[in-house]
Amino acid sequence: MNEPVQATVDDLPEITALCTEVFRRNAPPEHAMDRDFPRVFSEDNLAQLWVIRAGDKIAAHIAGLIRTVNVYGASVPVGSIGAVCTREACRGQGLATRLLHRMMAHIVQHGGVLMFVSGGRGMYRRAGCCGLGLIHRCRVPPQDHDEVPVAECGADELGVVLSLSQAEPVRFVRAEADLRAALETGMAANRSWRTWLLGEHEEAYIVGHRREDTLVVEEFGGERHIVAHGVQRLMAQYEAAHGVIGVGHWDVALRGQLAGCHVEDVHIPGTIKILQPEHLLRKLEPYLEERMGRPAPTSCVRSPIGWHVAIGERQAFFEAEEDMARFLLGAPGCSRAPEWEGVLPVPLPAPTLPDLEYV
Ligand SMILES: CC(C)(COP(=O)(O)OP(=O)(O)OC[C@H]1O[C@@H](n2cnc3c(N)ncnc32)[C@H](O)[C@@H]1OP(=O)(O)O)[C@@H](O)C(=O)NCCC(=O)NCCS
Repeated sequence: MNEPVQATVDDLPEITALCTEVFRRNAPPEHAMDRDFPRVFSEDNLAQLWVIRAGDKIAAHIAGLIRTVNVYGASVPVGSIGAVCTREACRGQGLATRLLHRMMAHIVQHGGVLMFVSGGRGMYRRAGCCGLGLIHRCRVPPQDHDEVPVAECGADELGVVLSLSQAEPVRFVRAEADLRAALETGMAANRSWRTWLLGEHEEAYIVGHRREDTLVVEEFGGERHIVAHGVQRLMAQYEAAHGVIGVGHWDVALRGQLAGCHVEDVHIPGTIKILQPEHLLRKLEPYLEERMGRPAPTSCVRSPIGWHVAIGERQAFFEAEEDMARFLLGAPGCSRAPEWEGVLPVPLPAPTLPDLEYV
């Protein structure tokens, strides 16, 4: 009792019922949690579903998804967590906190070096998760670029989207089955969205949705001028007054295309924890080496007084784990000496951090 255990296949219906009750209280049945997140609540992902039982019932639950982020060719194993819930009658006994810590250990056991979290409450912050700072949110003005053909994407176009996404320099690595499931549900980051292929030769794609009078782009890939013009084409088509697209600091090409737009720096949603700093840096060495122009052996060592980071001959020290994480990953604007310009922060997928893999 009260110990986190891995879910069994027989637990799946109870888990989805509990999560649907907590997160989809007034939603129609087609938005039950297992329908919206088929890759999470599936037999294939049972190893990443953990529960605490009380008697013959599930009292609390946490879900994870273990994937890989590709950063300019460097593979970084990550875990995303979410669907954290405790039955009302069992709250306040530390069950969710216990599940969170068990899940962190589980992700580490599976090689994960980073953890993306869908929320930012105290429970996560106490476990060392921190916000990542800011992302550029560009507000695109209306202008109809008639010359950019747009077509809604269905399962037949999956291969094109996959190729475009695979060519992105900073991305989640997606198995075809993941993308198919995402396209079929039309759900990501807890919102329904649609996917469009853009351009005469399908040179780009956009994943987005209309919220009130705004077209919100959740994800994109491919030729940046087609993406920029495609947003405007879709705004005209769907009679949206504004378009909003989040652009990573590293995406110089798209920032150039959107240079005239109003840019707002907004907080990246959710939080993140570096589970294994030493391993994270080691995985990133190919990226860092190219940025530094020479081999860049790395280390990140914890001592009784704090964290000692070395990348090549450069060193930095942080008393707090959060400051170390922000130094490595936090958006521009986090305090960092000018010598790190162009090297840090390490790029992560944008616009919404955990993109379609959000739990
Ligand atoms: C959030 C939730 C999972 C916490 O479950 P729990 O087993 O009570 O968690 P713990 O006892 O480990 O305490 C963790 C947090 O819950 C709060 N909590 C404690 N008793 C509570 C109660 N009776 N009701 C609501 N929250 C309570 C704690 O203050 C703590 O809050 P903090 O993260 O802001 O510091 C649970 O309240 C829940 O299912 N909420 C609805 C779903 C949700 O919001 N999930 C989190 C998504 S990010």
